[in-house]
Amino acid sequence: MSKILLVEDDQNALEGLAHILRDEGYAVQAVSDGETALEEIGQDEYNVLLTDLKLPGIDGLQLYREIKGISPEIATIVVTAFGTVKTAVDAMKEGVYDYVTKPIEVDELLIIIKNALNRQDLLRENIMLRDQVQKAYSFENIIGNSGPMQDVFKKVNKVSSSNSTVLIRGESGTGKELIAKAIHFNSQRKDRQLVTIDCASLPENLLESELFGYEKGAFTGAFRTKMGRFEVAHGGTLFLDEIGDIPPGVQAKLLRALEERTILRLGGTKDIPIDVRVIASTHKDLEKGLREGTFREDLYYRLNVIPIFLPPLRDRCADIPLLIQHFVNVYSEDTNIPPKKISKEVIDICMRYEWFGNVRELEHAIENAVVMGEGDTILQEHLPFNIFSGTTKNGETATLHNSNDSYNEQMDVAEKTIIQNALKKMDGNRTKAAKLLGISLRTMRYKVKKYNL
Ligand SMILES: Nc1ncnc2c1ncn2[C@@H]1O[C@H](COP(=O)(O)OP(=O)(O)OP(=O)(O)O)[C@@H](O)[C@H]1O
Ligand SMILES: [Mg+2]
Repeated sequence: MSKILLVEDDQNALEGLAHILRDEGYAVQAVSDGETALEEIGQDEYNVLLTDLKLPGIDGLQLYREIKGISPEIATIVVTAFGTVKTAVDAMKEGVYDYVTKPIEVDELLIIIKNALNRQDLLRENIMLRDQVQKAYSFENIIGNSGPMQDVFKKVNKVSSSNSTVLIRGESGTGKELIAKAIHFNSQRKDRQLVTIDCASLPENLLESELFGYEKGAFTGAFRTKMGRFEVAHGGTLFLDEIGDIPPGVQAKLLRALEERTILRLGGTKDIPIDVRVIASTHKDLEKGLREGTFREDLYYRLNVIPIFLPPLRDRCADIPLLIQHFVNVYSEDTNIPPKKISKEVIDICMRYEWFGNVRELEHAIENAVVMGEGDTILQEHLPFNIFSGTTKNGETATLHNSNDSYNEQMDVAEKTIIQNALKKMDGNRTKAAKLLGISLRTMRYKVKKYNL
């Protein structure tokens, strides 16, 4: 129930208002002077302060100023006599939410109170959301104990407090976007917008108008003026995702924006200054683009001020067990189940797999195992087939490449998995499983015995 602190020195008005507000379902504390109101605020939490401006002793405005220091989220509504509206308006400039004039129109007052409460909810929600987002991109949620990742963290930490342009490189799924967000949410710009644009997904003309905006009438269909992402990101960060795919025409304009720190909307004549921190990312070989003439050299140097390279997951196997544990926790929490245990084989298999889809592929595998697997432990059969059978997604390479194992040992692991899989598919029926694999029932029996299945 929302709580209102009501301050009014006229006893009749005080009782009348308190009555009306209680009838509306509010919890009301009614006091007749500012000093008592201050004592009340110190003892209880209120959503709304409804106070007469003219009070004996501390007046309404002074009371507001004091309370703002103690309880800044409280919404203050002042009641003023007809002749003193100007004071009420001045009070609003200091942060008072609204005012009502005497004699009070009850309906009007109730609407104002309701709006004040709604706004408070929104503000609270915003703060909560912001906290959540900031937590999600805080460093604790970016996993990596391996040497290469520790180097990345050091760089991210340093670069966050600057305004320098960052270029994040790495294969698909290595966490480029995650790092871009971490930089933004750990920078001084964190309370302003992080605006993302995927340069690979838009055709040239659309990419241009999305980046720089356009004036009404700039082209057929431009019915109104529209701000581009550069302008929307003013004061914040612009994340240019997949920068390697940006067409040459847009490259020239982007270079100009980065050099001049101004943009020109399409069809516009006025340069608009922008204060934007740029982070770009790509999985492409930009140096090859330079050699082939598809990526401008001047733009490359503009962007590549602070390069951050995210190594592929197969080059930082030490992170795999931590990542598995992290995703088990995340997806167990999401599905409201106690975190599952992870069997040793699962860790072993994951450590040996090539992970061409990098962290994203591992994340999906674990999500699937947590959500779909039965029991309280994640076993190898809960992993996607291509992973536990040791092949890559497109099935080309056998990747049980534990260099310590001999050829025969690796073949055995692969064979065992294939047999196991077939049996599982056929509900343990050996005849059917043998048929599925095109081997004799005798061979099947032999293998089952050999691998203790
Ligand atoms: N170090 C990490 N710790 C925890 N989660 C990670 C880590 N790296 C990546 N992820 C997760 O993996 C998924 C893929 O990451 P992200 O989208 O940042 O990769 P990307 O490099 O931008 O991929 P793409 O090139 O395909 O766009 C995301 O869900 C992200 O949260
Ligand atoms: Mg990405």
